[in-house]
Amino acid sequence: MKIAVIGAGYVGLVTGACFADFGHEVRCIDTDPRKIESLRSGGVPIYEPGLAELIASNVAADRLKFDMDLGWGVRDADAVFIAVGTPSRRGDGHADLSYVYQVAKDIAAELQGYTVVVTKSTVPVGTGDEVERLIRETRPDADFTVASNPEFLREGAAIGDFKRPDRIVIGTTDPRAREVMSEVYRPLFLNQAPILFTDRRTSELTKYAANAFLATKITFINEIADLCEEAGANVQDVARGMGLDNRIGSKFLHAGPGFGGSCFPKDVSALIKTGQDYGAPGRIIEAVANVNDQRKRAMGRKIIQAAGGDIRGKTVALLGLTFKPNTDDMRDAPSIAITRALKDAGANIRAFDPVGMEQARKVIDEGVVFCKDPYETVAGADVVTVVTEWDVFRALDLTRVRGLMKSAILVDLRNVYNPTDVIKAGFTYTGVGRGQ
Ligand code: UGA
Repeated sequence: MKIAVIGAGYVGLVTGACFADFGHEVRCIDTDPRKIESLRSGGVPIYEPGLAELIASNVAADRLKFDMDLGWGVRDADAVFIAVGTPSRRGDGHADLSYVYQVAKDIAAELQGYTVVVTKSTVPVGTGDEVERLIRETRPDADFTVASNPEFLREGAAIGDFKRPDRIVIGTTDPRAREVMSEVYRPLFLNQAPILFTDRRTSELTKYAANAFLATKITFINEIADLCEEAGANVQDVARGMGLDNRIGSKFLHAGPGFGGSCFPKDVSALIKTGQDYGAPGRIIEAVANVNDQRKRAMGRKIIQAAGGDIRGKTVALLGLTFKPNTDDMRDAPSIAITRALKDAGANIRAFDPVGMEQARKVIDEGVVFCKDPYETVAGADVVTVVTEWDVFRALDLTRVRGLMKSAILVDLRNVYNPTDVIKAGFTYTGVGRGQ
């Protein structure tokens, strides 16, 4: 199959590289000349384990190419995947679809022969209808189908998720488009990955419903964690006891500082907006958004409380800044709200992240001392806080950490440590939802 992927961002690059690895001929298009230049000379603009190698091997095999010329990608393609961003629109929280619509018009001008135009970007229900209308308006003679095929990749595990998906959702009722999409995903069909063919609107909504449900699960366990702290119970055991029920499942029941990232916050907010627009308000997800926002701020207060209630002039060492491990993504990371709360309360902040320092400097630079490793970070600190559960923090020599610090307070916002070990190393320990 000949495939064009429009947008060489996170989703576009992973999608393009994996399709090429299936044996398809893939052309990735982006409007940013520096990005294309860098990709052509072996650079990868995002951190995603395994992606650089996958791109390199498929470029070497001549199956994956990068260009700015959209027409070159689209004219020969059997399927064109739209993988541009749909950020939150300023002001109302709706998804900003201007990039998607612009690309739809650009594609329309170049279509030749039957082509399936696929929205891979996360787009609100009904967007496919508008994409179809725009293409039709620009090119009344074009032979095409607009399908929806949402991605369910997790940052940090994207390639594994793409190649071994829990499911593939394809939204089209057009038999010709189904045939093309079946061919595109053939290697996964052969691996018996569950595939759900449905109509376009259902497919679009499935993506939001899935993300909003996962965000709800996290928020639910976070509230249970708060209750555990007050009631003298242990949230990890509660989560285990719940999760062993197959109807609930054990995943996404890790209490922590609140969800962040490029997807959950923006998708929850867009789904709330869609619900309002259709007169079917999502009261549960509205609560999820509020509770999660408050939680991120509350984590700053939790650290202050662990330090005795007054943090003015004291030094807090933050370990981990990205919204989760194995990514350099700082978007909506809890560390942003935490540093703000600590700064407002007069604390000095030292910080380290294994991969996200460059991105972190862009959003939380002011007044934060960035350090080169965990031990340098804790030197002279009163409080050490694990904000993101990178593996390297699990293996820290706690006695050495204790020796470097001024006071011995450890706040573990991801429950990575065994409290007994931490206390044995001389610290006072505060976890999340570990009330006893
Ligand atoms: C999420 C979904 O998991 C993917 O299926 C989806 O494709 C993606 O959004 C997307 O829409 O593109 P991602 O944002 O990469 O993926 O990250 P997750 O691993 O889902 O984590 C999201 C946030 O929830 C992180 O801040 C994480 O720390 C938090 N989280 C997750 C918890 O606090 N507890 C948990 O048990 C799980």
